[in-house]
Amino acid sequence: MEIKGQLAIVTGAGRGIGEAVGKRLAAMGATVLLAARDLTQLQRVQHEIQAAGGSAEAAQLDLQDEQSIANLAAAIENRHGRCDILVNNAAVGSSGKPLFEMSPAEWDQLMATNLRGPYLMIRALAPMMIAAKSGHIVNISSLAGHNPLPNGAAYSASKWGLNGLSYSVAEELRPHGIRVSVIAPGSVNTRFEGRGDRKDPNKKIQPDDVAHVVAMLVTQAPQSFVSEVLLRPTQKP
Ligand SMILES: NC(=O)c1ccc[n+]([C@@H]2O[C@H](COP(=O)([O-])OP(=O)(O)OC[C@H]3O[C@@H](n4cnc5c(N)ncnc54)[C@H](OP(=O)(O)O)[C@@H]3O)[C@@H](O)[C@H]2O)c1
Repeated sequence: MEIKGQLAIVTGAGRGIGEAVGKRLAAMGATVLLAARDLTQLQRVQHEIQAAGGSAEAAQLDLQDEQSIANLAAAIENRHGRCDILVNNAAVGSSGKPLFEMSPAEWDQLMATNLRGPYLMIRALAPMMIAAKSGHIVNISSLAGHNPLPNGAAYSASKWGLNGLSYSVAEELRPHGIRVSVIAPGSVNTRFEGRGDRKDPNKKIQPDDVAHVVAMLVTQAPQSFVSEVLLRPTQKP
């Protein structure tokens, strides 16, 4: 399946996995809307994509701010009138402490980004996909959404929640020709917040490995879709 000419939105595209996904989709011919809070980082990625001959735009987005999401959706509708691929990638990491030491404010902030954010993005953008009777939503979860994560209970809960949201929304949207997939990677070699591990970065999953899976998912022929990919490093880092 060809994605040339499609509009792809990638949240958290200023670094890490989102940057790799944005660059991959642009290399495949999509126009990529790179979204996150730090515009400077997004513009760097945008310029690198353009220098490589791709098409990209940078848009400031704060997933914790409902109005910011509504503004982005309105801008996409006015400027492009379409939304073919949505990659809900942005998230914040675990607190690195036991749940009982986490403040309600920290909990709220994490959930607002990791779980309410993808909900609001789908709420804002699915109507355009429904009107087009096609689209692909890829939610970046984690193996922490399948396993316990000591000192990361809220993060783990947000990813378990994202999985449940994704499987359910997939059922809601499949009659409209929209496919919803989840990618659950293990440790990826990024500067993800809350990271304090001693794992070998070279053995970790690389951001490009996740981008490769996104590319596979969105090029699947339209009559079927992959619900979920659990992505593991070949050698344990
Ligand atoms: N790295 C891993 O080991 C790993 C493993 C499994 C799953 N994952 C998942 O992979 C995804 C990407 O992680 P990563 O490792 O690439 O992390 P990262 O390098 O820390 O990137 C996170 C991105 O999210 C954006 N972001 C954070 N809060 C935001 C907000 N309120 N509004 C908009 N954007 C926001 C950040 O940009 P700004 O700060 O500029 O907004 C940044 O671009 C996440 O969903 C993470 O849970 C990561």
